Amino acid sequence: MKRRTSLQLIGGGLVFAAAPMLTACSSDLPPQALVAWQGPGNETDVRKWILSYAILAPNSHNLQSWRVDLRQQGIITLYCDTTRLLPETDPYSRQIVMAQGTFLELLDLAAREKGFRTTIELFPQGEFGPKAVDQRPVARVRLEADASVTKDPLFAQILRRHTNREAYEARPVLPDAVRAIQTSVASAGLQLGMLTQGDALQQHRAIAKEAWRIEMITPRTILESYKVLRVGPEEIAKHRDGLSVNAPLARTLVSLGLFDRSKAPTSDDIAVTSQIKDFNAKIDSTGAFFWLVTDGNDRTTQVNAGRAYARAQLAATALGLSMHPLSQALQEYPEQAKPYADIHRMLGADAARQTVQMWARLGYAPAVQPSPRRGMASHLISA
Ligand SMILES: Cc1cc2nc3c(=O)[nH]c(=O)nc-3n(C[C@H](O)[C@H](O)[C@H](O)COP(=O)(O)O)c2cc1C
Repeated sequence: MKRRTSLQLIGGGLVFAAAPMLTACSSDLPPQALVAWQGPGNETDVRKWILSYAILAPNSHNLQSWRVDLRQQGIITLYCDTTRLLPETDPYSRQIVMAQGTFLELLDLAAREKGFRTTIELFPQGEFGPKAVDQRPVARVRLEADASVTKDPLFAQILRRHTNREAYEARPVLPDAVRAIQTSVASAGLQLGMLTQGDALQQHRAIAKEAWRIEMITPRTILESYKVLRVGPEEIAKHRDGLSVNAPLARTLVSLGLFDRSKAPTSDDIAVTSQIKDFNAKIDSTGAFFWLVTDGNDRTTQVNAGRAYARAQLAATALGLSMHPLSQALQEYPEQAKPYADIHRMLGADAARQTVQMWARLGYAPAVQPSPRRGMASHLISA
């Protein structure tokens, strides 16, 4: 147990400052929330076997906004779960659509592993408009057994991949690792970049910090995270989604009624200032950044960016490297307009025709626990 107990969450950590040691309970997540990370076990239905891997995909705020229809033989139809969106921080559901792509990429890797070829038809009833997702399918995936299909070594990383929000080690990310991550992604219409040294690191750090500060002091955006905050083993095991906080201090504050998640804290509240301080320290520990820029920003492009991110993070995992997305500056709500413009300019993306779809910390870090999953069955659309 660490001497300093903190309440941590989200992409950087909700931290309620240093506190005396509270040793009575563990920060380990309840095992029921992590069952999905044991893989499909002896599942005999091929589509369910494959989906047991797909649901482990990275996805924003761990909302797992995936609905799956298996009623047609040999077909997996994927829908976006429109009850699980982030209207404040992801007003056009760009990130939610990217997470449809991360899901499809893991689905494809798992299908190959099982000897099945996928034919993925995106938006078979037409693409969502630029502002909102809807009830039409995201993808219709046909599976065909095919002994000639090539397995992908990235499959082996699916159960090992985790978003890592810890401070990163000083160990540099070397050119060989950069090349390996780059080659993992087929990049038509998509630019993948990494920065591992130089003065520009300070500019990246400054943009990340400012964007995070804005998200923390904007009442409706911090409240959006509070809504999906799961504090303590009961809440985490019950929901198996969202942002898990299991540190003893947080649990104590909640049980004493001292942490009211229905109200946004003021900008000078320790709940805000300590989060900013903690996030800034993590950003200062970051010696490398990763990004993906696309030409255009339609829904197919967003899905493909999600697929690329999943591959890059799996490739990083194979190299022992961690990633932690920094979405705040990429978000389309008005208060982020300056960080949004700054990161686009910094990465050489012309915001009129290009979009930074992903920007992440990259580095070596201590291992972290997996995050909860609701389980394959919770995504199935029943007859
Ligand atoms: C499009 C997208 C945006 C994300 N943005 C953030 C972010 O800003 N901060 C963060 O900590 N994690 C971010 N994540 C990571 C998710 O929070 C993470 O994937 C999810 O909580 C599940 O955890 P896991 O990746 O460890 O399985 C993002 C993931 C995706 C796919």
